[in-house]
Amino acid sequence: MQPLKRLESFSGPEGPVVLCIMDGVGIGKGDAGDMVAKATKPNLDWLKENSLFATLKAHGRAVGMPDDGDMGNSEVGHNAIGSGRVFDQGALLVKNAVESGDVFDGDVWKDLTGSLSADNSLHFIGLLSDGNVHSHINILFALIRQAQKQGIKKVRVHTLLDGRDVPPTSALEYISSLEAVLTEINDLGEFDYCIASGGGRLYITMDRYDADWPMIERGWQTHVRGEGRKFATAKEAVETLRAETPGVIDQDLKEFVIERDGTPVGPIVDGDSVILFNFRGDRAIEISKAFDDPNLDRFDRGPIPAIKFAGIMQYEAEQQIPKSYLVSPPAIDDVMGEYLAVSGVRQLAVSETQKYGHVTYFFNGNRSGKFAENLEDYVEITSDLVPYEQRPWMKGAEITEVILDSIEKDKHDFIRVNYPNGDMVGHTGDLLAVEISVETVDLCLGRLIEAIKAKNGIMIVTADHGNADEMYEVDKEGNLKLDSDGNPKSKTSHTLNPVPCYIYDASGKAGFKLAELSDAGISSLAATSIMCLGFEPPADYDPSLVELK
Ligand code: 3PG
Ligand code: CO
Repeated sequence: MQPLKRLESFSGPEGPVVLCIMDGVGIGKGDAGDMVAKATKPNLDWLKENSLFATLKAHGRAVGMPDDGDMGNSEVGHNAIGSGRVFDQGALLVKNAVESGDVFDGDVWKDLTGSLSADNSLHFIGLLSDGNVHSHINILFALIRQAQKQGIKKVRVHTLLDGRDVPPTSALEYISSLEAVLTEINDLGEFDYCIASGGGRLYITMDRYDADWPMIERGWQTHVRGEGRKFATAKEAVETLRAETPGVIDQDLKEFVIERDGTPVGPIVDGDSVILFNFRGDRAIEISKAFDDPNLDRFDRGPIPAIKFAGIMQYEAEQQIPKSYLVSPPAIDDVMGEYLAVSGVRQLAVSETQKYGHVTYFFNGNRSGKFAENLEDYVEITSDLVPYEQRPWMKGAEITEVILDSIEKDKHDFIRVNYPNGDMVGHTGDLLAVEISVETVDLCLGRLIEAIKAKNGIMIVTADHGNADEMYEVDKEGNLKLDSDGNPKSKTSHTLNPVPCYIYDASGKAGFKLAELSDAGISSLAATSIMCLGFEPPADYDPSLVELK
């Protein structure tokens, strides 16, 4: 890779360029559920008056999702922001590979399904919803139907309940569609297909960024050992757990194990095959390591069954996690971080645990390492392990202080930061907490603005997708959905809304104006950041939002 060329008329600001990603803070419709509009946010208001302002697409095809009905998410968002281009993403690659049948012609599928004895099971573990962020239920159905076509006698499904990328208490709808498929197959007479275990995605199995390994341990005990509270059906489990914890949402439901005649129906045992059908990496890496890494010492796995394991996708290519996979991930190359590293730009990436990998791993095209040890600092502030509606400020102040220190001491030229609040609190569905989360981010931005002013830097403030901007469920006509008591239903998932982009040049010396772009997406933020640093963006990057006057 060649270093970037300098712009002729602007060699970068005196201070640093700071790219602030306000996770989950989109531009809503200003209605009752728009907590971004509702929040008191003097600093964002000030930026609006004093910056170049653009509105960016952050969902659907603009971030490589199958279609424009798909909301954005942090993986595809940070991939687009960091790589400056739009790649077809896991959701689309897996859909294509399954629809074309290519996935079943591959060696890995053949190996996992071909070697099973009649007594052994093919297990599927994954998120049971059509959120299309980590998984899609239709992919699971296609895998199950193919197993049946191939005459596989026993299939066991380990269902992670969502409520985070789909409505908060929708699990029974997905369970019932899955049971319908399983019953249809069992009715053929010669098959034994059933749900074996499950639990809320935030309680078992889907931890990320090493935040909470006990979650993985609980998932392992549930899926592999068949240890946990026993029920006759997944429906009974969900109904019982909900009745015992009024107000609980699906993502937080405790684990359950399905038993028949007093015995768990589907522990994972020697000779079985296991497919993790989640395509997104962050929350699939730890459980993959638990199956794949003989030396893992994060928890005691007990006797490890001799099984074949594959992910539907490879989640980390350099570290080969997992070793076997069904579909190749998007080949995201030549990302901005690498260009800046070969151009001698000193970089800082900072967030708290929950989004740390977003500004490192996702930002760098799903690779965890640095490009240049001597030029890059990656700082992780440890996240609290609490429900975030109880702590909507999260680690905003601590993150901000790392950046203030860098700015004050002139440590870095390019700083990228993710403030998780709008998203992590948005996923709880707690409106007051969400309002506070947005206000927290605003307060942090206010401190950064002062530092940027003092050092004549440039600040780009934007988001990866919406969430806090739409906290009530609305129907297709835009009317609020009401619960049985007539109250609006709170929404925990991301939105289809665009996101803001404020470009604030403290000295005004860059001499930028907004480029005339129609339909710009967040993939334009890489070229924009590179121009703000005083370089020409790579020719194949999506166009910069700014141009020289
Ligand atoms: C999650 O993993 O928390 C959600 O499914 C998506 O949220 P994110 O894309 O903002 O991380
Ligand atoms: Co989110």
